[in-house]
Amino acid sequence: MEQDELKALVGRAALQYVQPGQCVGVGTGSTVNHFIDALAGIKAQLLGAVSSSEQSTARLRAHGIRVLDAADVDRLPVYIDGADEIDAQGFMIKGGGAALTREKIVADLADRFVCIVDQSKQVPVLGRFPLPLEVVAMAAPQLVRHFAALGGTAVLRAGVITDNGHPILDVRGLHITDPLALELEINQWPGVVTVGLFARHRASVCLLGTPGGVKTLVF
Ligand code: 5RP
Repeated sequence: MEQDELKALVGRAALQYVQPGQCVGVGTGSTVNHFIDALAGIKAQLLGAVSSSEQSTARLRAHGIRVLDAADVDRLPVYIDGADEIDAQGFMIKGGGAALTREKIVADLADRFVCIVDQSKQVPVLGRFPLPLEVVAMAAPQLVRHFAALGGTAVLRAGVITDNGHPILDVRGLHITDPLALELEINQWPGVVTVGLFARHRASVCLLGTPGGVKTLVF
């Protein structure tokens, strides 16, 4: 099975977590695009969606799905999103699509984070995928030095500015054995808008796309 077919499989499987009359949190990326397309089939039963990016908002609206502002919602039963990596505890690296800040904001509103990924995203230890950070531009050189002290190499992502108007740093060479501690540490550094380490906001459930079907991992 091709990777995109596995993404489509978990995108459709995520519909089971959306209950009639509810509002759903919607992530960003190619896997979520499959989820949004599947969501269109039950849009009449939906109260609406809170979106994590301009990209997902446009796709939701193109399907005629109502998009609510995060500011108008005080809680969501579920947030559904992809990931760049997920480990055996449900800790994730996200932000490959540069939407990490809004993704974390919407995830924070949700009771449950349902992560939808193909099996290539499952790793024993986070860090093979470069860790993305949204940063205030003037802090970037100092943040590069902070990461060098940890053994990482941080590089600005060329040509990318987020929906919030900030650049992205991608950090290679990290071996993240304690995601909660590293997230806490990085969050102390001035100029970090959001680190793409989802440790406090880890997955509650992972729907893993495999050639044998969808596996459900509960954390
Ligand atoms: C976007 C993200 C995505 O969830 C992540 O990059 C996975 O994307 P895809 O589903 O296209 O593989 O964090 O910021």
